[in-house]
Formats: sequence, structure tokens, C-alpha cells
Amino acid sequence: MNMKKIPDTLRSARWFAPDDLRSSGHRSRTMQMGYAPEEWTGKPVIAILNTWSDANPCHAHFKHRVGDVKRGVFQAGGFPLELPALSLSESYVKPTTMLYRNMLAMEVEELLRSHPVDGAVLMGGCDKTTPGLVMGAVSAGLPMIYLPAGPMLRGNYRGKALGSGSDAWKFWDERRAGNLSTDEWVEVEAGIARSYGHCMTMGTASTMTAIAEALGLTLPGASSIPAADSNHIRMSSAVGRRIVGMVWDDLIPSEILTRAAVDNAVCVAMATGCSTNAIVHLVAMARRAGVNLTMDDLDQAGRTTPVLANIRPTGDSYLMEDFYYAGGLRALMAKLASRLDLSVLTVSGHTLGETLEGAKCFNDDVIRSLDNPVYQEGSLAVLRGNLAPTGAVMKPAACDPRLHQHQGPALVFDSYPEMKAAIDDENLDVTPDHILVLRGAGPQGGPGMPEWGMLPMPKALLKQGYRDMLRLSDARMSGTSYGACVLHVSPESHVGGPLALLRSGDIVRLDLNARRIDMLVDDREIERRRSQWQKPADKAGRGYGWMFAKHVGQADTGADFDFLETAFGPSAPEPDI
Ligand code: FES
Ligand code: MG
Repeated sequence: MNMKKIPDTLRSARWFAPDDLRSSGHRSRTMQMGYAPEEWTGKPVIAILNTWSDANPCHAHFKHRVGDVKRGVFQAGGFPLELPALSLSESYVKPTTMLYRNMLAMEVEELLRSHPVDGAVLMGGCDKTTPGLVMGAVSAGLPMIYLPAGPMLRGNYRGKALGSGSDAWKFWDERRAGNLSTDEWVEVEAGIARSYGHCMTMGTASTMTAIAEALGLTLPGASSIPAADSNHIRMSSAVGRRIVGMVWDDLIPSEILTRAAVDNAVCVAMATGCSTNAIVHLVAMARRAGVNLTMDDLDQAGRTTPVLANIRPTGDSYLMEDFYYAGGLRALMAKLASRLDLSVLTVSGHTLGETLEGAKCFNDDVIRSLDNPVYQEGSLAVLRGNLAPTGAVMKPAACDPRLHQHQGPALVFDSYPEMKAAIDDENLDVTPDHILVLRGAGPQGGPGMPEWGMLPMPKALLKQGYRDMLRLSDARMSGTSYGACVLHVSPESHVGGPLALLRSGDIVRLDLNARRIDMLVDDREIERRRSQWQKPADKAGRGYGWMFAKHVGQADTGADFDFLETAFGPSAPEPDI
């Protein structure tokens, strides 16, 4: 092995090696934990950033899985240090985990910078934990491997497979329409999430871990392994062994996260059916690596990449467990090989092409081929127009095709509670042609772009049998959601984007073919409204929310903090010890 690092040049040696009082303190305090000097001296120190908590069901197994990572680190001659990091459970954290993605990214960067560590294992999976961990670790620049939590097992309700999110929304609409009893609903609650692991639809979590793998940041095949499968345990110890080798090889993220790797990840994301959230995170992660991924790049990929993963909510029946049995992400990437740059390096130390050798598909209906895709195009579309000058996104495949070209009157709400009260009013004056609009829900206004973008169908329309209508907002929606939802409208209304100037009754037009979303209001009237517009007050008067609203960027640039962007300034120097 041609090692680039030797014990003397390890970053951790600056803490542990010198014969001075400060270093003596570090050694003494390590012995305080019961370790003998020979257990760490001259060995790579591996930070294991564990996003386990009692409040994160998706990461429940990380409490034990971290032991398997440590086992691998020890076996390879490293020294592991578990460092807990913000857990961010999609189901519990309010108003939205997106408010804290950047906080996790900051925490990761600073944990790695300030501790005596040489490399890192990132343990995440629930939606925002993947981008938060990756963004921070990319900025920290140490060798790192991403360890995906793995999807939970398929849900089960009376013998039928249930998918996270998607089926909850579907069954809830049936309940609101009066078709499901309370007891039946409780059975759905009990059956829909029946093991640890992240959501097992192709929602944000599955898309993001697939993206991490496609970027080259996981061991080959790692992202598809169900959390409860013993292969996941073996993968975890393999991660522990591999990170030690990466430290000796000094294989740092900038060698992996190249433009070509980002383009691969975009292509794979589109082929999975891609959660809309993934767009914001992909842009943010790429920009941390110095790659300027634009909305136009994403639209181009959306137009030209067929959806191959037949997984809900874009596909119609299968779930992540089926995807794994069908060969998982390696099989999907092998089918996409002609569109990928196979020469890029991965954390395994091998090129992507080498890691795909021997990949096989065992079920051509679950993982389709390029000549028999789930959708020929249209995993994701980027719209522009006088309502969204810098972009908005939509998932054409997940909505009723009658709405792809549509115009109708807007019904505008300025807050979620206002919208919610109206939606449940059975006498609401609304037709299936109306466009429901929610604003004040963007990065600054939300704050944090809550997942409110799949505005609930008005009760009045549900009772008439309608299940989809056009909806428009500066919010995000859950990756497991579906419907004709135009999201991430940028600039958001809170900063004076044109969405702020729309009024109920104005005609809104969606032209998906032309990729346009416009209000049919004449320019002079728009200008008149603009001159009268006043910026709403920020919601948080102090603390993190206050800082967030001051520094968060718009959705089309990844909603990162301005001061964390790669181009903001030079990296902080290594700490004085
Ligand atoms: Fe954790 Fe869906 S709630 S991934
Ligand atoms: Mg989600």
C-alpha cells in the first residue's frame, strides 16, 4: 500500500504526540476513559458522527449500529470516537427539520474542526440528516464516509403493503371522505412504520441516501440495504474498516465530489423519481464542493432522464425493500451506465465503474431499463415565469395529467392556519379549476420552508370525488407527497417575490410544456402592487430563527447560509493547540 500519511503526519498527532504539557493533558484524559496509550498512539482517530436520539425512530438502530462501526475501526487499526450530532427527526421536529439542516451542517463542520480527529463516519438517513452531514463534512474537508440508515421494512395493513407518507395521505383522504373507521385508521397507524430505518418509499430520505451513494460517498450498494437486514450490520463494520484506510490514503472529499460526480448524482436522482426536496439539497451540497449546479442543469436532467425505479410515490406499487431485492442502486446505476461518468473516484478507493462491475438486476419490473422506463421523462420540472423569476419546481409524473396545462383563478392564503381553516369549510367557494396558493412559507418567511406545499384538498372537493388540483407555494413538500403542486417559488413572497403580489381571483396559468408559471395580470398593475407592498415582520425575534432568517439564501441556490457558502471566505485555520 502506498500510504500518503504516516503516524507523525496524522492531524490527531498534533493533539497526542508532542512532549508538552497540553498534549500530556490530552493523553491523560484519554487514559481517564480507560484507554492505554498503545490503543491510540500513531493510529487514525475516527469521528463517528451519530445522529441517534430517543426522538428519532428512523435512527433507533444507530444506538447499537455505532458499535459495529467501532468494531470495524478497531479491526483496521484505528481509534474511534463517537460524537453525537443533532438528530433531526422528520416526524417530530417542528416547524420543519429544514430549519435545522444548516445548523446540523455547522455542527458537523465545527465538531470535526475542533476535535482531534483524522477522518469521519457520518451516520444519517432521515431526510435532512443526509445533506446536513454531507454539507458540513465537505466543508471540513477530512476523509469521510457516509453510512446510510437504510429504509425500514415495508408497511403492512391487512395484507397490503403500505408506503411511508404516500399511503398515510391517501388513507387520510379516505378517512376525511368518511370511508374509513377510527379502528381501521389505528390499524394503518400501527402498520405503516413497523421497523427502524428511514421512510421506505422513494421519498426524500431514500432519494438523498441514493444521491450520497451516487456521489461516491457510501460503500457500493450501501444505500439500498434495509435497516433491519443483517447486511446492514456487516456494511457498518466495513465502513469502520474502510475509513481507516481512507485516512492513510488521505482521500479527501474534494477528490470525490467533482462536477462529474455531481452530474452522476443528478442523473441517478432523476432516475429514482426524485423527491423535490432533493433539488434544494443537491444544489446546496454541490455548492459546498464548489460546483455551481443550476436550476437549468436540473431541468435539463429532468427532461432527458427516464425514471427507472418503479417505487412509490412515482412508481405504482413497489417499495425500497423490493428495490433492494431487485439489485438495489448498483443495479439501477448499471442500467444508467451509458449516461454516467464511470471514471469518478468513490470512497471505496475504486472508480464508480469498478464498483458497478457484476451488478445485476433481479426484477426488471422494479428496476426498469432505459427502453422500458416508468416515465420517459418528467421526474422533475423547473418552471419559470412572472410568478417565479428564478425558478419553481414540480413533479409532473406525480400529478393528474389534466393539470399539466391549466389555468384558473387563484385562491390565496397568507398563512397555514388561515388555509387550514378554509380547507375544512364544506361551504368554501372553490372549484376543481381553482389554484390554491400558500405564501409566506419560503426559506425566510416560513422560516425554513416547511413541507406545506401539498396543500390539502378542500373538503368540499373531496366529497365531490376530486383528489387533485393545482397548488402553488414557496414551501416544500414531503418527498412522499404527490399531486399537482408547484413548489419552491423563488424569490419567495417574504422577500418581495412576485408571489407576494398575487390576489385571490387573479388568473394563474401553468404551461408545463413551456415550463412556465405566470399570473395573467398586466405589468403596470403588478408594478402598482409592488409599490404598495410591505415586507412582513420576521417571525423569530431572537435566537437561531432570527439568525436563520437573516442569513438563509433562496431555494434555487440551496437555502444555505450565506456565511457557510464555499465562496464566502477562506476556511477557518486549523485550531491552535
Ligand atoms: Fe425519517 Fe421519513 S420520517 S425518513
Ligand atoms: Mg419526508
